[in-house]
Amino acid sequence: MEQKKIIVAIDGHSSSGKSTMAKRLAAEVGYVYVDTGAMYRAFALHCVRLGVMDEQNIEEPKIPEVIGKTAISFAIVDGRQHTLLNGEDVESEIRTLRIGNCASRISALPIVREAMVNAQQKMGMEKGIIMDGRDIGTVVFPSAEMKVYVTASEEVRAERRFLELKAKGEQPTMEAVLADVRDRDYRDTHRAVGPLKKADDAFVLDNTYLNQEEQYTLLRLYFKSLSGL
Ligand code: DC
Repeated sequence: MEQKKIIVAIDGHSSSGKSTMAKRLAAEVGYVYVDTGAMYRAFALHCVRLGVMDEQNIEEPKIPEVIGKTAISFAIVDGRQHTLLNGEDVESEIRTLRIGNCASRISALPIVREAMVNAQQKMGMEKGIIMDGRDIGTVVFPSAEMKVYVTASEEVRAERRFLELKAKGEQPTMEAVLADVRDRDYRDTHRAVGPLKKADDAFVLDNTYLNQEEQYTLLRLYFKSLSGL
């Protein structure tokens, strides 16, 4: 089968496991991996640091100025992809529950989405890219050759997030994490611009009852059938 470079768009709910399998596929096939959630998180962190947002409020008139002062990039540190905010490694700071929440709020603003989507489209110009997020198959790359929509039950996702946060030294309760998953699902699927929704031509991967190996096998086979690699 002839090989061709494609764009892989992976969308799905928070804690659906999409980043883990997207990263693994990118490493195996030599594609660039872009975690767009990390971009929204880094932008939210910048807004929090500058005092223009917190978990309750956003000072919207100040956001365009912050966009102009924000450069988000990625670097490989000890073999893992880290997110940089104006050159500073913010990888661990952006992974907290609080910044995830702020990212979910700030990402509802059309002006923020426009800036992020533009940057993401530039990254994909040469193809050979795997991007994960909420609107990749619908808005960023509507003509991506491969689209996957990843999901799992709320309870399973809350449990995964709970374990992840505990491993990082946070002390969440299961109730708080489940409430956060529900809140975030609601906001991610109900915003006016770029809401999370399945693209008509996306392959649905519900991993409620799949382990990581099983789900990766499905993803890998689907990729091979489209790229020949
Ligand atoms: O995937 P994540 O949990 O790291 O994403 C954090 C937030 O960023 C998520 O709640 C919604 C937002 N996001 C978005 O609006 N669009 C994307 N393409 C990726 C993330």
